[in-house]
Amino acid sequence: MEVVIAPADELAVLAAAAIDALLRRKPEAVIGLATGSSPLKVYDELARRHAEEGLSFAQARGFMLDEYVGLPPEHPERYRNVIEREIASRVAWAPDRVQGPDGLAADLPAACAAYEAAIDAAGGVDLQLLGIGTDGHIAFNEPGSSLASRTRIKTLTKQTREDNARFFDGDVEQVPRHCLTQGLGTIMAARHLVLLATGKQKAEAVHQLVEGPISAMWPGTIMQMHPHATVLVDDAAASRLQ
Ligand code: F6R
Repeated sequence: MEVVIAPADELAVLAAAAIDALLRRKPEAVIGLATGSSPLKVYDELARRHAEEGLSFAQARGFMLDEYVGLPPEHPERYRNVIEREIASRVAWAPDRVQGPDGLAADLPAACAAYEAAIDAAGGVDLQLLGIGTDGHIAFNEPGSSLASRTRIKTLTKQTREDNARFFDGDVEQVPRHCLTQGLGTIMAARHLVLLATGKQKAEAVHQLVEGPISAMWPGTIMQMHPHATVLVDDAAASRLQ
């Protein structure tokens, strides 16, 4: 595991540069997309490179990490809409080349299986962007998740719903209780993992991720087993590292 400690703006440039290099080497690359606050500056930098430096996503594919269950199609916090707004529309990425798990499917387990099959059919994920929750989740693999899990339905913890209430007018009751999420096994199959974490509130999760024993209670720790994992953290998030 490679750990880089730098200011947040530099971390975003490093993550964007890794995606840029991948796309120039392999225009049809498969990129794993995260939502939440952590990747926003990366998406800003990718949009800038698209506008100013000709970075093209035209042949690339995108697969999202997760999706809330039951949010209406037009809801601004539905992750498919967040990804469209924050990155896809800004880099002229055709909507049909970016996919997420279908949180509105009538048959959710079938939607999860179909999502796994779609990732496989695309040849697997080349580079997966990740954030980490204050409780150590990656994607929405909450503490206690199977280390070998695949895309499935999960119940969000109280902590995660409270953390995400800021996207729902500060009202935790508006945060869905369930999601569909890539599993830890799904994420581990990606060829390069790039995780971003900033701020003091992530310090314990980052400490466990990098220095803790591998445990389902800190799901991100499975990344210690990955042959190519990059962890990008600012000083505050790194403050508990030894
Ligand atoms: C989002 C996701 C989550 C977030 C995590 C951190 O797609 O998979 O694991 O990365 O909850 O969220 P932020 O970045 O908002 O602190």
